[in-house]
Amino acid sequence: MAKDFSRMEDSNTSNNLSIHQVSDPSRRTLLRGGLSLAATGLLAPLAGCASAPDAAARPLLGFKSAAVGTADTVVVPEGYSVQVIAAWGEPVGLSGENHAFHFDASNSAAHQETQLGMHHDGIHFFRHPITGGDSRTGLLVMNHEYADDGLLHTDGMKTWSAEKVQKAQAAHGVSVIEVEQKEGRWSIVKPSPWARRFTAYTPMTVTGPAAGHALMKTSADPSGRRVLGTLNNCGSGITPWGTYLTCEENFIFYFKGPEQPDAHQARWGLRKGDPVGYRWHEHDERFDAGKHPQEPNRFGWVVEIDPYDASSTPVKRTAMGRAAREGATVAVTRDQRAVVYMGEDARFEYIYKFVSRDRIQPGSAKANASLLDNGTLYVARFDASGKGQWMPLTHGVGPLTGANGFADQGEVLIKSRQASDALGATKMDRPEWIDVDKQGWVYCTLTNNSNRGGDKRPAADAANPRSNNTMGHIIRWKEAGDFDGLSFEWNHFVLAGDPALERVDARGNVNGDAFACPDGLWTDARGVLWIQTDMSTSAMGKGDLKNLGNNCMLAADPRSGEIRRFLIGPVGCEVTGATATPDGRTMFINNQHPGESPSERSDPAQPRRFSNWPDQRPDGRPRSATVVIRKNDGGVIGT
Ligand code: FEO
Ligand code: CA
Ligand code: CA
Repeated sequence: MAKDFSRMEDSNTSNNLSIHQVSDPSRRTLLRGGLSLAATGLLAPLAGCASAPDAAARPLLGFKSAAVGTADTVVVPEGYSVQVIAAWGEPVGLSGENHAFHFDASNSAAHQETQLGMHHDGIHFFRHPITGGDSRTGLLVMNHEYADDGLLHTDGMKTWSAEKVQKAQAAHGVSVIEVEQKEGRWSIVKPSPWARRFTAYTPMTVTGPAAGHALMKTSADPSGRRVLGTLNNCGSGITPWGTYLTCEENFIFYFKGPEQPDAHQARWGLRKGDPVGYRWHEHDERFDAGKHPQEPNRFGWVVEIDPYDASSTPVKRTAMGRAAREGATVAVTRDQRAVVYMGEDARFEYIYKFVSRDRIQPGSAKANASLLDNGTLYVARFDASGKGQWMPLTHGVGPLTGANGFADQGEVLIKSRQASDALGATKMDRPEWIDVDKQGWVYCTLTNNSNRGGDKRPAADAANPRSNNTMGHIIRWKEAGDFDGLSFEWNHFVLAGDPALERVDARGNVNGDAFACPDGLWTDARGVLWIQTDMSTSAMGKGDLKNLGNNCMLAADPRSGEIRRFLIGPVGCEVTGATATPDGRTMFINNQHPGESPSERSDPAQPRRFSNWPDQRPDGRPRSATVVIRKNDGGVIGT
């Protein structure tokens, strides 16, 4: 969750398969397509696990719950151990000059361009390009959602300069690192031909119906097809053809609003006189939407990255629509088309899916280079009956016409919020990550929404049943027929919160360990649904959240609904992003913004005030980092 400094985005004032799941059809593609598809890790069968005849009878959760914790460390169940790698500032291993992290934050912008960015988020382990699926070597690709300038610079924002803006821009984006395990310890391979940094200034190509659209053209890019950088990369996804999908979430907070925002700008959260906490516009005019009104339209897309081709250019895929998007999760239909599920994390925004027109081709990224450019985008309506509908965001269909302000398909996609308003989609309680279980249920975390109800905002509804929903919930649905189905049946997997809580709207129905504010969500190869929490620092340990300690990761059995706490993060962090090696014996997660202050902006005079994780050095400062989880007996995580 990126910090908004002054307000949480809330711009929607509109009125309006059994075992057939991701991995199986992909595996069939794998057989036809050869080794390249195996590289995703999406396809890995786990020996002795889900494929065993008695797997269904075996309990999914084999560990003892970790207790609620408030310590400045990572806690895991008995029998597990953790290792920290890839902290902010560590060199990623580019060829040429690399710069070690300076604990006084004195690294320059040029140094930061060679180092891991700040505030790690979505992450995926890709099988190694050469050694394949040995589970001891691979590529980790991860997002860096945003930067805390109070920690990024030695004196924070006390002084402000073009150099500081450039360092902040270099701390954003995505990293690719090569990793290897020796005797149970993981490390970054340096240098590595696959190591890369993508920042807020890396050139990217735009494809799909909005590429070249008038609303995408700027003075610096009259083509509307070449954007510099990616911003606020939050959740992520992977494709069966071995690419990484990174999603641009709260991009609007980087832009200074114009003097008189028009209706489109207002619907996307641009307001006059916004303080613009990142202050990039003061030294980089591109981020002044008054001067460059189309620049914000060039963010909010799913960006596809091919980690196996270090010379590849990232591609912003506009056919999947524009949103303050959390993540993008790919399922595959029986006839081998890609379905991408996506949530837009802002209050009262929507859940989407994209269905590709074409079938996935055997082979790698090049064989599927335009697969995500052609297809249909849908938005969800959850009806009180327990059924739901997917409504197409297709120009000319229903209200999406020129007369209603949608001149063409490009405009529908750039204005997907307005299109969804017009279609009467269901306004959700901040949709975060989405994943699919072994039975074909699709789950979406709805992290919280304290604005529901009252005089001006939508009241609770069947899908979002609690007013002042401080705890969040997880909704799930099963498509009619296949993942491309136009209707579905839905229910609530869980309402978060302790069932014993006094306030009715904070009470949950958790079967197991209580939690709040679900965010990250990931189904592992055995079918365990991992849930990661993001209680905001300002609310943590107080009110409805007072007994929940630090943010954590829990494991759920989707069949029984049982939920057990597995990992507790250090003080002030959120736990986000999860992935594992093909053998399931090493898990990687990210701890983002340890030591975040309740004001969500650190004080450079007291960098260790709330946390000194992971280094615990007398001269240190808290750093986001990747946590490697192993079972002491070398077993599969969660068993
Ligand atoms: Fe970046 Fe919705 O969390
Ligand atoms: Ca998130
Ligand atoms: Ca969040």
